[in-house]
Amino acid sequence: MSILIKNGQIITAFKKYRADILVDGEKIVKIGQNLPSTGVERVIDAEDKLVIPGGVDPHTHLDLPFMGTVTRDDFASGTIAAAAGGTTTIIDFAIPAKEEPLGSAADTWRQKADGKVATDYSLHMAVTWWNDAVAEELPSMMERGISSFKVFLAYKGAIGIDDAQMYEIMAAAKKLGALVMVHAENAELVWQLQQKLLKEGKTEPIFHARSRPPFVEGEGTHRSITMARVHDMPVYFVHMSAADALEKVRDSFFRGEKAIAETCPQYLLLDESYYQRSGWQGAKWVMSPPLRSREHCKALWAGIKGGLIKTIGTDHCSFDFKGQKDMFGKKDFSVIPNGIPAIQDRLSLIYTYGVLAGQIDVCRWVELCCSNPARIFGLYPRKGIIKKGSDADIVIWDPDWEGVLSAETQFHKNDYNAFEGFKVKGRPHIVTLRGKVICEQGQYTGQTGDGKFLSRGPLY
Ligand code: URP
Ligand code: ZN
Ligand code: ZN
Repeated sequence: MSILIKNGQIITAFKKYRADILVDGEKIVKIGQNLPSTGVERVIDAEDKLVIPGGVDPHTHLDLPFMGTVTRDDFASGTIAAAAGGTTTIIDFAIPAKEEPLGSAADTWRQKADGKVATDYSLHMAVTWWNDAVAEELPSMMERGISSFKVFLAYKGAIGIDDAQMYEIMAAAKKLGALVMVHAENAELVWQLQQKLLKEGKTEPIFHARSRPPFVEGEGTHRSITMARVHDMPVYFVHMSAADALEKVRDSFFRGEKAIAETCPQYLLLDESYYQRSGWQGAKWVMSPPLRSREHCKALWAGIKGGLIKTIGTDHCSFDFKGQKDMFGKKDFSVIPNGIPAIQDRLSLIYTYGVLAGQIDVCRWVELCCSNPARIFGLYPRKGIIKKGSDADIVIWDPDWEGVLSAETQFHKNDYNAFEGFKVKGRPHIVTLRGKVICEQGQYTGQTGDGKFLSRGPLY
């Protein structure tokens, strides 16, 4: 299929300019002024639109068994929601159970996704346990195109690892050029605080936040940076939520190290008051790290403006309020399944509350949500930029569309929207994935299985 996108305002991380884009097959083949439409199968007038690269969400959890249940969104529904919101590539986490070989988890995640995905996808591998056999498996992950490994300092006794294991995982990853990603909350402190609060009869969702204070994330961040410093290697922090953690990244930056920070819309736009909503509604926002006070939101925006935060992902991990959040957790906040839905709403939220609110410019929006995730995780310039030779993953963005986020209209399969009632301006008018139109005016028009697995190489 050939498509000509006429007169759009093209936005990259570096510049904005007006030009036409010619797509042939799966690729962008030409960008220029007044490109002829003769013989082109579809011509799209983008005169009043922005034209941006398809979003790249570096942090999703689809079809994940977690805390006694399984996320509502699988790779079909989750990637349809992503596409409707303008994200054409996701990177999900294969998470092996304790003692499960990494290869088995990689197979399972490929089976969950292949033939189902509406967008392209790649995988990170979580290293949830460690011995010689796991160490020997790491090179085969690289051969399978999985070159980023996540470790959880949190989730004591479940998927969390200890310091000695982190030390060895980092050493092994460095030899391979794999990026280590860290969920940086001090598991022991979280566990101790949980037990203390529960013993005091403090069982409500707000105590989820109280059991994981910001300095607990600051400590995990500092410890991981120190370890990466010993190994002289980069380290990537997922879902950063606290000023305390960002300060550690700032200090690391001034030492000339490479600590990379990711945050998510929820940590920029929501605060801990959500946990005190009546009727146990606060459980909807139980996620780790938890929502913080507004001071932390402000600090994260400052981290974005100052360039310390490099990516915005979603950590999309959707559960129903009724039937999942309340399965075991009504009398114990510590067993409420952790996670919120956000995969569809990322670009609109950051456009509205970032660009239109004057926090960032439109190029930085593209950089944070598209280009940097692609660059950092080895998908660039195939993804994350509008450029001759890149995949034709293109979002024709309608900056004038106005709407309100709601569970009623979302493609997320779960029964609530974490940003219910948020007014947004701007949404995808047309979305293409490798040259195929997969969304049009808010409707999904693709077919299951349009997406492909993306293999990635060493990252440094
Ligand atoms: O609460 C969260 N973040 N759930 C997903 C798992 C994780 O830690 O990323
Ligand atoms: Zn995490
Ligand atoms: Zn996550």
